[in-house]
Amino acid sequence: MNPLAKELNEIILNANPHIYDMLSDTGKNLYFPKGILTQSAEAKEKADKYNATVGMATEKGQTMHLPSIMNKICGLAPEESLTYAPSFGIMPLRKAWKEAMMKKNPSLNDKVISLPVVTNAITHGLRVIADLWVDEGDAIILPDKIWGNYNMIFETLGTGRICKYQMFDKDGGFNVPALKKCIQTESIKNSKAIVLLNFPNNPTGYSITKEEGAEIAVLLTGLANDGLNIIAVTDDAYFGLFYEDEVLKESIFAQMTGKEPRLLTIKLDGATKEDYVWGLRVGFITYGASIEGNASLVYDALERKTAGCVRGSISSVSHLSQSIVLRSLESDSYIAEKAEKFGIMKRRALELKQVLLDPKYDDAWEVYPFNSGYFMCIKLKYVNAEHLRVHLLDKYGTGLIAIGDTDLRIAFSCIEEDDIRQLFDTILAGAKELRI
Ligand SMILES: Cc1ncc(COP(=O)(O)O)c(C=O)c1O
Repeated sequence: MNPLAKELNEIILNANPHIYDMLSDTGKNLYFPKGILTQSAEAKEKADKYNATVGMATEKGQTMHLPSIMNKICGLAPEESLTYAPSFGIMPLRKAWKEAMMKKNPSLNDKVISLPVVTNAITHGLRVIADLWVDEGDAIILPDKIWGNYNMIFETLGTGRICKYQMFDKDGGFNVPALKKCIQTESIKNSKAIVLLNFPNNPTGYSITKEEGAEIAVLLTGLANDGLNIIAVTDDAYFGLFYEDEVLKESIFAQMTGKEPRLLTIKLDGATKEDYVWGLRVGFITYGASIEGNASLVYDALERKTAGCVRGSISSVSHLSQSIVLRSLESDSYIAEKAEKFGIMKRRALELKQVLLDPKYDDAWEVYPFNSGYFMCIKLKYVNAEHLRVHLLDKYGTGLIAIGDTDLRIAFSCIEEDDIRQLFDTILAGAKELRI
């Protein structure tokens, strides 16, 4: 093992041995290399004559660049856009995102959490989590309604074992007892459970209520208190798009963090969906834990391991993307711009609810509970989802996502409010045509 990894492990072990136990073998081996990176950092400070350390190019004291590229980048210098960003992410963005997170989640105000590490959006954040925290056969506890890419990340590329529970109870609420049972049965072997919570949920568009949030927090802290090591990962990709009053409008990360030594909370979030910049690929990993003594030392160790994983996979996230997201966060109009887009999405969701009250649809499908996010889902009663999908595409030029035999996912994020009724009438017409 590299001595730097040993040093980080010692720090974690002394402050909270359960967190050390929860690290995967790869996680234990990870460190942030010094080598070239440290030498260049030192040179940046002291080499005022010649600095020949970094694998970039300069010209007349400036970052070398092609005018045909810089012409397209308005308002940012080559040093803020073309150069490598640190593997941790650029510091002003990490600080600004954390500050925004504290405002969006007031329950975090009395908690000590890490600085976010920048990832190539949330997909990469999940992958980094799989590397750092998931060992062969570890249970990843998920509901039966999930974003399909979790399978690829945790089981195909990773070595975890996805274990599912029924997401909704018979009254359409979040099925906390099913979650509990799944954790208890699946975590026995490795005495560790990775519970992945995603609200607003893809594909259903469901977010937990405040009461459900409290129940989940009590459940996970209770199990941790009983001796189970739990990593609670929140995938907050669609954070903030909450359309109904009873919904918990903070991340459940904020309710659980720092509560139990055996409960490590990890928040994944990002600008991709929240700020409508899907292709810029800017996401974050933030840790929260119960730590004896100097928490900042432990968070620093976890951030170093995480940045080491970023360094060894994608090196660093686009500097251009990070600078754009940072400037937007700092802009005076950011809050108002977000409120305007939120209003559009909320009106669509409410229109959808109104349209779906029409009893004429009852014969053809059931609607899964939804109150947030980009999506909603219907459960077809008499037609196969894939057959209907293809039929709607061929006959009506209408594209939806089929999930399994019965479910269709509708991304209302891409449908104008005025077109929603027509869309559902089209789905109904298609379903009737296929009814045998
Ligand atoms: C639940 C969920 N998490 C993560 C992602 C990926 O987000 P990103 O584009 O930030 O990688 C998606 C969708 O793309 C998603 O639906």
